[in-house]
Amino acid sequence: MTSDEIIVALDIGTSKICAFIAEFDEEGDLTVAGVGMAASKGLRRGVVVNIEAAMKAVEEAIDMAEQQAGRTVESVLAGIAGGNIEGINSRGVVAVTGKGREINRVDVERVIDAAKAIVMPMDREVLHVIPQEYIVDDQAGIKNPVDMIGVRLESEVHIITSTISASKNIIKCINRSGYKVDEIVLESIGASYSVLSRDEKELGVLFLDIGNGTTDLLVHFGGAPYYTSVLPVGAQEVTNDLSIMLNIPFDEAERIKLQSGCCWEPLIDRNESVIIPGIGGRPPVSVPEMRICRILQPRMAELFLLVKKQLGEKGYLSRLGGGLVITGGGALLPGVAELAQEIFKMPARIGYPKNIKGLEERYRSPEYSTVTGLLQYKAQQIEEEGPVVDIISSGVIVDFFRRIGTWFKEFI
Ligand SMILES: Nc1ncnc2c1ncn2[C@@H]1O[C@H](COP(=O)(O)OP(=O)(O)OP(=O)(O)O)[C@@H](O)[C@H]1O
Ligand SMILES: [Mg+2]
Repeated sequence: MTSDEIIVALDIGTSKICAFIAEFDEEGDLTVAGVGMAASKGLRRGVVVNIEAAMKAVEEAIDMAEQQAGRTVESVLAGIAGGNIEGINSRGVVAVTGKGREINRVDVERVIDAAKAIVMPMDREVLHVIPQEYIVDDQAGIKNPVDMIGVRLESEVHIITSTISASKNIIKCINRSGYKVDEIVLESIGASYSVLSRDEKELGVLFLDIGNGTTDLLVHFGGAPYYTSVLPVGAQEVTNDLSIMLNIPFDEAERIKLQSGCCWEPLIDRNESVIIPGIGGRPPVSVPEMRICRILQPRMAELFLLVKKQLGEKGYLSRLGGGLVITGGGALLPGVAELAQEIFKMPARIGYPKNIKGLEERYRSPEYSTVTGLLQYKAQQIEEEGPVVDIISSGVIVDFFRRIGTWFKEFI
């Protein structure tokens, strides 16, 4: 197998940088062949702020994955997040001019282009243009208009943009490590491929990726994204609070959070305590788990209330028949689903990576939803390979028709 028959995904997170290499097995199923990890360096709130440091960690992660897979990596699919991400909905209209007024793929391309023609500040670029639905004459809710007859074709799309500097810094850091970048993909879009079911996306779902330094929001309904945003707050806020309130170093607070943290009081055993080693010659102290919970719970509640406020303002909360799905390392804090359920008044579940072979048990965790989802995103593009017309988007060549095929598959 040659290096261009592998898929390499890179998640440059605020707490860890991971590279996964996958290939298709004899049955044609996507299978993880190598995993590489490095502690995150040079990142702040999901954004590269020190290229040299991040570059070394990227190199380390890809090297390790290459060794495990016994493959040589040339190019990678990289995730992007950070407070600079914005999602907007837009609409395009074109007249159908072809023979017999039959809509063809070029009409679809034109109507997507029309929807893409938005006024954008000079410092931003488009990452994704994802069709939500098409309208042919007065008939709405069409997922694939090709071959339909009509005079007027409209498209509704979700456009995701980032600042040029944020994506350029990711590209620069990967290029300097010696690899090319296939495509930059919004992390929550990637993660949604490994975690969300088709039914959830159809019924309406709020997808939250609580990472270390960022929380990614994605709202799907009718099978397509309608709202995306990245909040510059994550699970590290919880550790910070614990460190301040218990007057202990950050690393010690992180250890306690991982070992005994919980953010839902009803789950706490009132008799349990945690021993905190004394700092600076002071004796160890015993802290009731309830006290720890009373530090963690309000901070997580604050995060959920922030999300709820953002979505409430947009009117999306009443359209989420599929409930709430939480992933990312922050989802591992016991009580997260219970607390979210109480705040959002809707069912909540923790999202684990699924439908991928060859993944060791320890990587079947919400922390790896993004990297596995990026693999699945790319695999779906490959599976849907159609006639190729290259267009330039955000400095990266993308295969437009292949993508259209992918979007259609999502809708059917
Ligand atoms: N078992 C656990 N219990 C509680 N919290 C956990 C657990 N495991 C991981 N976390 C927390 O999850 C966070 C890391 O999550 P994740 O790996 O998704 O972040 P990241 O992808 O590196 O960051 P970001 O997406 O924000 O850039 C850390 O704050 C860590 O404390
Ligand atoms: Mg992450």
